[in-house]
Amino acid sequence: MQRIFSGIQPSGVPQLGNYLGAIRNWVNLQSGHECIFCLVDMHAITVWQEPEELRRHTLTQAAILLASGIDASRHILFNQSAVSAHARLAWIFNCVTRLGWLNRMTQFKDKAGKDRENHSSGLYVYPNLMAADILAYKATRVPVGEDQKQHLELTNDVAQKFNHDYGVEFFPAVEALIPPAAARVMSLRDGTKKMSKSDPSAQSRIELTDDADTIAQKIRRAKTDADVLPDDPAGLESRPEARNLVAIYAALADMSIQQVLDTHKGQGFGPFKNALTEVVVNAIAPIGQETSRLLKDETHLLHTLRHGAQRAQAIAEPIVSEAEKLVGFLR
Ligand code: TYM
Repeated sequence: MQRIFSGIQPSGVPQLGNYLGAIRNWVNLQSGHECIFCLVDMHAITVWQEPEELRRHTLTQAAILLASGIDASRHILFNQSAVSAHARLAWIFNCVTRLGWLNRMTQFKDKAGKDRENHSSGLYVYPNLMAADILAYKATRVPVGEDQKQHLELTNDVAQKFNHDYGVEFFPAVEALIPPAAARVMSLRDGTKKMSKSDPSAQSRIELTDDADTIAQKIRRAKTDADVLPDDPAGLESRPEARNLVAIYAALADMSIQQVLDTHKGQGFGPFKNALTEVVVNAIAPIGQETSRLLKDETHLLHTLRHGAQRAQAIAEPIVSEAEKLVGFLR
């Protein structure tokens, strides 16, 4: 059985893009794989997080993943900082990765913008920690949204260079599992920008804890153009906001873009947004309700994460100890 690893940053409440690009896929992949799902709190602090908020978001995310259908009794769910193997392997990878590789990372460029000098060095070496997350378990399949593709290419480069430098086939190659639909959900306020849990505008995203009224309000206010829906996908080109709403509908209703247009062509955004609201509410609102129920029992959530960390540690420890031995660290 192949081993899956994936992670999400507890830097806010997960949004619809996280769900369609990653979480929904994680839930489906549980049958047929051994899965390790991680709340990557060490990645989150590469940009400033209020400590109390970080704690709260980590618990909320654990609850959301369980509410979405992650089975923490059969698979592993834990927070990254609880397993020290991640940090140890990340340090080795900091010494394997070349600066030139990191300089090519588009996510760093996007996040740091022009003000590069004022960002943390953690943000710069972020992809090395991500490679360590995956390779500490020798996981071979990684379900992610499209924005993480470049980081997984770097993971393969790091693994290859480590194997070459130390003369052993130690780390395996990693395969990105990117969903065919909605691999990149866009902001509701700007169809050229990725939907993100850290966008300053809460109106730009649907959070997985939003109730039906909030979802309806955000979709009603979503930016659109004045035209009607076209009868084929080509008519959505150069209409990023319209394309995004149709893509969300298609992904949640398990339909192709063409099938959505067959049903809604010629409609203006008023009626289409009502139909979309219904589809989103049906998919998301039950997750929010179950999340609030789970959040009432923090002790149980903490226990679940601790238990997950112990099981994760049992897998990662021998792998990372072996890597340290290969490097020449005395024990
Ligand atoms: P994060 O927390 O930004 O996002 C978690 C997952 O959600 C996907 N995603 C999206 N998919 C489609 N449309 C969007 N608008 C959208 N926004 C986010 C992301 O692609 C991701 O799969 N670096 C990672 C976390 C990480 C990780 C790992 C992932 C750390 N270590 C090891 C895989 C393996 C991140 O920042 O995800």
